[in-house]
Amino acid sequence: MTTLTFLGQSAILLEAGGFHVLVDPFLGDNPKATTSPDDVPADLILLTHGHGDHLGDTVAIAKRTGAPVVAIVEVANELAEEGLDVVDLNLGGTHEFDGGWVRMVPAWHTGLTPKGTPHTPAGLVINLGGKTVYHLGDTALFSDLALPSRRDPLDLALIPIGGHYTMDRHDAVEAARLVAAPHVVPVHFDTFPPIETDAEAFKREVEEAGVAKVSVLAPDASVEV
Ligand code: NI
Ligand code: MN
Repeated sequence: MTTLTFLGQSAILLEAGGFHVLVDPFLGDNPKATTSPDDVPADLILLTHGHGDHLGDTVAIAKRTGAPVVAIVEVANELAEEGLDVVDLNLGGTHEFDGGWVRMVPAWHTGLTPKGTPHTPAGLVINLGGKTVYHLGDTALFSDLALPSRRDPLDLALIPIGGHYTMDRHDAVEAARLVAAPHVVPVHFDTFPPIETDAEAFKREVEEAGVAKVSVLAPDASVEV
């Protein structure tokens, strides 16, 4: 069984067989997060990109847990300089780990870390415990969102809906069609005023169109993948 816990903004925790994959752990400075970076478990940390609301508490959590960090090359190099154990993927690359794998796929967004490292943001196709999850990262709507499911049938997709910095909830309905996962969890909304939106309206539109089942999760709520 693979369990997904939403931690707020784009942060999620995937767990299967006692192995914890933590993605985009922006916790300490997230006004909506209820999980502390001081005790969140992590055996592997994955980053879609290095904006502050995704990189978040990565350095502190990786140092505490010893978890390696998978990030795009330029971000991985910055984190290696801070003493972290890193895996430096680029778009199209796959990293295999105990019990699963992660593939880095394109996303349409910009990328600069808080320390000033420019990089290309990504989406992540994550396989854990026999289930496959597509985390779109921060992105606008684009047609290649349809490509990951052609290689690996998806069980769940995490789609940003907040608008302003990513696609909004209307474009996210079309994104859900393209992504072709049977189960969708909206992310990247309501954390700050510019990205406030009506997640229940997104759920209604996607479900009424017969595109996918949608689970709107409060921070710390979990679903089975
Ligand atoms: Ni971003
Ligand atoms: Mn973001």
